Amino acid sequence: MEKIIVGLGERSYDIVIGSGMLSGIGERAASFGFSPAIAVVSNPTVFDLYGNKVIESLSNAGFNCFSTLVPDGEEYKDYFWSYHILTDLLKNRLDRNSCVVALGGGVVGDMTGFAASVYMRGIHFIQVPTTLLSQVDSSVGGKTGVNHPAGKNMIGTFYQPRLVWADIAALGTLPRKELLCGIAEIIKYGVIRDARLFDLLDEKREAILSLDPDVMSHIIKRACEIKAEVVSADERESGIRAVLNYGHTIGHAVETETGYSKYLHGEAVAIGMCLAARLSVAMGMMKSAHADRIISVVKAYGLPSELPKEINGDKLISLISIDKKAIAGEIKFILPKNIGDVAIHKGIDMKILKKVLEQ
Ligand SMILES: NC(=O)c1ccc[n+]([C@@H]2O[C@H](COP(=O)([O-])OP(=O)(O)OC[C@H]3O[C@@H](n4cnc5c(N)ncnc54)[C@H](O)[C@@H]3O)[C@@H](O)[C@H]2O)c1
Ligand SMILES: [Zn+2]
Repeated sequence: MEKIIVGLGERSYDIVIGSGMLSGIGERAASFGFSPAIAVVSNPTVFDLYGNKVIESLSNAGFNCFSTLVPDGEEYKDYFWSYHILTDLLKNRLDRNSCVVALGGGVVGDMTGFAASVYMRGIHFIQVPTTLLSQVDSSVGGKTGVNHPAGKNMIGTFYQPRLVWADIAALGTLPRKELLCGIAEIIKYGVIRDARLFDLLDEKREAILSLDPDVMSHIIKRACEIKAEVVSADERESGIRAVLNYGHTIGHAVETETGYSKYLHGEAVAIGMCLAARLSVAMGMMKSAHADRIISVVKAYGLPSELPKEINGDKLISLISIDKKAIAGEIKFILPKNIGDVAIHKGIDMKILKKVLEQ
């Protein structure tokens, strides 16, 4: 097993990565001294696959365990379903020293974290991420939340888990498209911070796609280390944490414009990373050979690298301008300077952006 410590003073916690370790969660959870009543929040898809193992492990460790399920899908990541979780926690008499376990992908993790953060002004919570995206991204860093009809993730808190327990073996049942979304985020970490990680993604593609446990635990660990490092330096995204948004400014606009149906998040981010790389070249900030390499790795994984025909440049630019991360109308772009190094760039020349988007 690999372990990373997310350093946030007394709120520090471990990310533990391994293969076939779900049955060890009970013993580890017991070591914290939580109250006996514990909740496992999941969705039917994940609970059918892994619920029993987790419940059994927690029960064997002396917990009095119950489960609460939310329907599977981003459309259920809302206030109503988080309220449903809170109601179940109350009905089952969780107290201020109780713990909630999130078993699932980012949707379950975000909603459970949100519920845990407001239940009795905050109780303990553990992330057991079961998608690659949640293992390398959403379970780390403490952003929780739900969607509102007015915008994605608009209601939420910063609230850190006590533990992240990531089992690579669970990825075996994950649909390929979902796996690739996690790969897109790992490509992101390589480009923003770690040329060696990027090389590994390039060289070990087959081993990665066949979920080789050694290679997977290495790249997941590296991705989590990078996220942990950035989050420790800037938990509330007032500065450097913005580098994690590489590919996301354009990616979010693509998701919005295509009604969240044509692309999964990681796919839209893949397009965003390729376009941001080309924008960087067009602005004279990076050699075109580096952008070519980013695009070729994205394509090699079968991720999309170009805008769909139906999106025009002007439309995308207007969407980018209203993105919540554009503070006071100023668009912030994360532009690579090299593989492994990015700059936070404000004040993009719209003519250059338009040209890149319409190429
Ligand atoms: N908090 C953060 O910092 C942060 C960061 C990135 C993304 N997010 C959020 O994460 C969410 C996306 O997360 P996601 O990509 O994990 O999606 P998801 O949670 O919807 O999971 C994707 C699909 O895979 C299924 N699934 C999960 N684990 C499985 C397994 N082991 N085997 C088979 N099927 C499995 C799920 O039931 C679901 O149908 C979004 O809501 C996004 O806003 C949050
Ligand atoms: Zn993302």
